Amino acid sequence: MLTMQEIKSHYYFTDTDAKLLEELLPLAEKNCEAMVEEFYGYLLKIPETAAFLRDPGALQKLRKTHAQWFLSLFCGCYDNGYMITLQGIGQAHVRIKVSAHYVNAAMNVVRRFLIELLQANFPEIEARRKYRIAVEKILDINLDIMSTSYQEEELRKVFVSHRLESKLIHAAERFTYGLNLILVVALIVVSLSVVGLFFWDLVHVFSGSLEKGILSALGSLLILWMMIELMDNEIKTLKGGKFNILIFIGVIIVALIREILISTLRHDALETQAFLAGTLLILGIVYFLVAKSQNVNAH
Ligand code: HEM
Repeated sequence: MLTMQEIKSHYYFTDTDAKLLEELLPLAEKNCEAMVEEFYGYLLKIPETAAFLRDPGALQKLRKTHAQWFLSLFCGCYDNGYMITLQGIGQAHVRIKVSAHYVNAAMNVVRRFLIELLQANFPEIEARRKYRIAVEKILDINLDIMSTSYQEEELRKVFVSHRLESKLIHAAERFTYGLNLILVVALIVVSLSVVGLFFWDLVHVFSGSLEKGILSALGSLLILWMMIELMDNEIKTLKGGKFNILIFIGVIIVALIREILISTLRHDALETQAFLAGTLLILGIVYFLVAKSQNVNAH
């Protein structure tokens, strides 16, 4: 946060400038009413600013407020108290949501008014130049301090939305992580069931139905192999790796192969077997296309 002393030094605003402005006070007082007329003539012509000035009672009070501010430009004392007052003025406009654009434009009206006033009252160029430079500096300082309130408001909004955004993202990440953990546990349970299935198939081998037992056991082993791949993929995802969709298609293909093996043994209807084979073919094509597109993206 800058002090008024620092702000003044950045604008090369000296004690001489302060004295010059004080000298202009009588002229400013004489023309204050004309300035307020011009200021309000301007604000009332623009629908967006006129909307703030509808109430005649409030308008009368506001004219006095704006006149006081105008005269304060020539008070001759520009200390931290002056800066705090300007910050309050800036905040008042931010609070009622007058766009910074109109405050800048209104300041331009005041600037033009004062330059013309100096033009009319100081025919001697050198004297006019001194006053003009001092007036320009104090107007720029006023605008600078008032517009800081707008920048602070913008920063506050960005900061609040950024904080909310990162909190939401963090919560979503934790939630996804939790779901992935549940998935790993589920995969472990399913894998253990597949191991059980494999042993159940072996029981068939020893209980006489050799062909059925071997084919079913083979199918179970295929599924187990895909389960290992699936868990491996899931663990990689948990560690921050990339999700691989191919593994999932692979699991479905393997499950389908197992179903085809069993279907053959069960001597299912030809249509059922044709349907399974057709589905397998489609999944095979999908697998091929996804694998190809992954290769293209990798290069
Ligand atoms: C050169 C630019 C301007 C200056 C120096 C200025 C100055 C001031 C001052 C000194 C106040 C009193 C603040 C307080 O209560 O602490 C004020 C309030 C106000 N100004 Fe301005 N003003 C400017 C531009 C505008 C513009 C463009 C509008 C648009 C209509 C506007 C509308 C108002 C209103 C409605 C209030 C009353 C705020 C409230 O109810 O709190 N001002 N202004």
